[in-house]
This record gives sequence, C-alpha cells and structure tokens, in this order.
Amino acid sequence: MSFRRAPLDWLGNLFTTYGDVCSFRLATNRIVVLNHPHHVKHVLQQKAGNYNRSTMAHKMARNLFGQGLATVEGGPEWRRQRRLMQPSFHYQRVASMSEHMLAVIRARLDQWDELVASNEVINTNEEMRRLTLRVVARALFALEEEKVVDRFAQAIDTIDRELTAYMQMPLLPLSVPTAGHRRFWSSHQIVEEIIDYVITKHLLDEVDRGDLLSMLIQTVDEETGERMSNEQLRDQVFVMLFAGHETGANVLTWVFYRLGLHPDVQQRVQQEVDNELAGRPPTIADCSKLVYTRTVVDEAQRMYPQQWQGWRRALEDDEIGGYRIPAGTDIFFSPYHMHRHPDFWEDPDEFRPDRFIPEETAKRDRSSYIPFGSGPHVCIGNQFAMSEMLLIIASTVQRYRVELASRELVAPKQLITLGPDKPINVRLMPRNRRSG
Ligand code: HEM
Repeated sequence: MSFRRAPLDWLGNLFTTYGDVCSFRLATNRIVVLNHPHHVKHVLQQKAGNYNRSTMAHKMARNLFGQGLATVEGGPEWRRQRRLMQPSFHYQRVASMSEHMLAVIRARLDQWDELVASNEVINTNEEMRRLTLRVVARALFALEEEKVVDRFAQAIDTIDRELTAYMQMPLLPLSVPTAGHRRFWSSHQIVEEIIDYVITKHLLDEVDRGDLLSMLIQTVDEETGERMSNEQLRDQVFVMLFAGHETGANVLTWVFYRLGLHPDVQQRVQQEVDNELAGRPPTIADCSKLVYTRTVVDEAQRMYPQQWQGWRRALEDDEIGGYRIPAGTDIFFSPYHMHRHPDFWEDPDEFRPDRFIPEETAKRDRSSYIPFGSGPHVCIGNQFAMSEMLLIIASTVQRYRVELASRELVAPKQLITLGPDKPINVRLMPRNRRSG
C-alpha cells in the first residue's frame, strides 16, 4: 500500500502503528504528520502565525489558480485580502444572495421533474456539481446568460476532469503539452475570459447587482484606501469558484447517499421539513429551524470531510507533542482521520447524525471536528455553503423521496476534495405533498 495509491488507508495504518505524531520522507523533505486534534489546533489556531502556505501543494495551487484568498501564501497580503472580503460573507449579505440561490435551485428541480416523469436515474454527484456551480456563479457574479453559463460549466467540467486525471497520475508537469494538458489549459483560458467579460460588464454598469463581485469592486481597503485591481478580482473569483462548488456538491452527494441508505433518517428529515415549512418553499430564515437536517449535513461532513488533507510549513522552530519541529518542516494533517479519532468518536465508522444534536456537540472537544478548517484560515464561505446545502436538501425532500438505484457500497475517492469512488445514482420518487 502506498500514499499515492491509497492515501487514506496508508495514513490510517501510519497512525495505528506509530501514534498521533509521525513523520515520513518525500524526496528530500521530512514531513511531520499530525493526527491529534490538539496538535492540529496548535498549528491552525494557537500558533497560526508560525505556519504558512508555502508548501509544494500550495505552490501548485497558486500556479493553477493565481493569488486569491484561498491560495495566497499568508502574512500581510493574506490579511489584507481577508479583511477586504470578510464583509461580503456576513450573514446579511448571504441572506440577500439567497433569493438568487433559491431561484437557481427551483429552476433545476423543475428540470428534475421532467427526468422523474420519464423514470430516469440521476447521477447525484454530476447533478450536484451542476447545481452548486450555477448557484455559486449566480451569487458570485450574476452569471445567468444561459449560453455563457453552459460554456462556462463545460470548461469547468474539463478542468475538473483533466486535473483529476493529472492528480491520479502526475507523470508529466501540466506545462508539457499532452492532449489532456492542452484541454486543461484551453478550458482554463475560457474560464478566465468569461470571468474577465463579467468583470468588465460589472465595471461598465457601475450598479450593485447584489452579488459578490459587485461588492468586491466597491470595497475599499480601510487602511490603504485601495481597491482591488482587475487581476486581483479575477484571481479571487477563480479561486472562489473552485473552492465553492465542488466541496458543496460532494457533501450533498454524500448526504443523498446516506439518506438512501438510512430511510429512518430520511423520514426524520422529511418530517422536520414538512413541519417547519408546511408545504411552502424554504427561505434562508428557515435554515436555523432545520436542526435535525443540519445534523445530517454535519455527520456527512464528519465522515467525508472535503479537506481530507491539509498542509502547512513551519516558519520558525517549534515543538509539538514533545517533538522538535525545525523551521521549514512541512506539516501534514488529515481531518478524515481526526474525525474518526477513537479518543473522540465512538464507533466512528457508523453514520449517526444524533452525534450532532446540540447537547452532544456541547459535550465534545470542539477541536475534534473541523469540516471548514479552523483558526484564521477558516472557510470564509461556510455560512454560504451551509445555507445553500440546507436549501437544496429541504427543497429536494419536500418534492421527492430519494431511493438509491443500487445498494452497492460506495467509498470516498481522494482527489483534491473527497467525492465518491463510483457514481451514486438515485431515483427521485415524487411525494404527495408538493411545494408551491
Ligand atoms: C461544503 C462546502 C465547503 C467546505 C467543506 C469548505 C472547506 C474549507 C476548508 C476546510 C477551508 C480551510 C482550508 C485550510 O485551512 O487550509 C476553506 C477555506 C476557504 N474556503 Fe471553503 N469550503 C466550502 C465552501 C466554500 C464556499 C462556498 C466558498 C466561497 C464562495 C469558499 C471559499 C473559501 C476560501 C476563499 C477559503 C480560504 C480562506 C482563507 O485562507 O482565509 N468555501 N474551505
């Protein structure tokens, strides 16, 4: 078994054999691997200033996606960007974007009605990617023109596919013009062109469309009085698109897989949605009432955290768990294993949403659960993502009962995020009570 072929199993073995702090060599680099939530908290939160994103993995991300908030190394430039963008993600702002979110969701569900009528199975992961990409494109920069959205979605699909193929077998650098790499770069260019087109349109119109890009264009740095340049805007939008659609799509895929496997859980979700909404379409204000539905999302994120691997590099000498960490050491951690750490989770391989009812959560050490990261780099889009996922689940279970087309076991597949290793096909069975 090797890290490249089966990283999750390989890491699991490492922790079982050597404990919560281990190390291995990758070429000339010594990499320290952490599994204890307190040690990871030390790196991400308590001594966050001593750890940055100058690792190889982050360099590669910067080469592909530029210098946006999720990729920039750290230090003053990261702080400046975070300060500029934080207001765009406040609850009020997310709430004001939710109408657009809901319009996109409703339109897609209406299309599902047609598939359902012809008894077609739905590939959940593909469908969810399509849906979350449209939601994020609408909310980020008001991209609605059908033709442009389709071209855009196709290019993103190609980027995802070629990047996945590359990650599975990185024989040659992406700069070598193989057929696959050429497809990657030409799609990359299409996405850049569309983003530039949208930025230009926003700048010419000079109206606040209520989307994130309008907000970023208008934002002035309180300390320097500067606005973002076009290139900075493009990098931000590019990074957000990738950080913001695949993750949510995968979590939703796992939620629907689990709803199919556990009809009792699905029934409780349906009951909650029926009770709270009484047949009317959901709104963002309903999200806080969907307490049980949220536990299902939380449990799906525990078992299948989208950031299954994380990296940081130590800037100065440090000590973790009694081990010396010299400056320049790369730190690796795996929320997938932390979320199954036997000291913190009972029967960790069991799917049990009740672990996340508020009384249970209150008893638990908070550092043991980090689906959105922790410390200063905690996901800026977490409220956006949570609202979007709850609205999609509520809208779906209100209309349909979800049935798995096959009961074949599905395992996680470790790419940049954590999707399923095979398609999860579902049948959507219309329910009697329909939303308005
Ligand atoms: C279920 C959905 C999502 C999950 C599971 C997720 C997860 C994460 C995690 C774990 C991190 C921390 C990475 C680290 O510490 O190295 C992160 C950071 C980030 N996420 Fe998300 N994310 C989601 C949705 C979104 C959305 C919708 C957006 C934006 C529209 C977004 C934008 C970002 C950005 C910009 C960062 C970097 C923050 C910084 O470094 O200051 N994410 N996300």
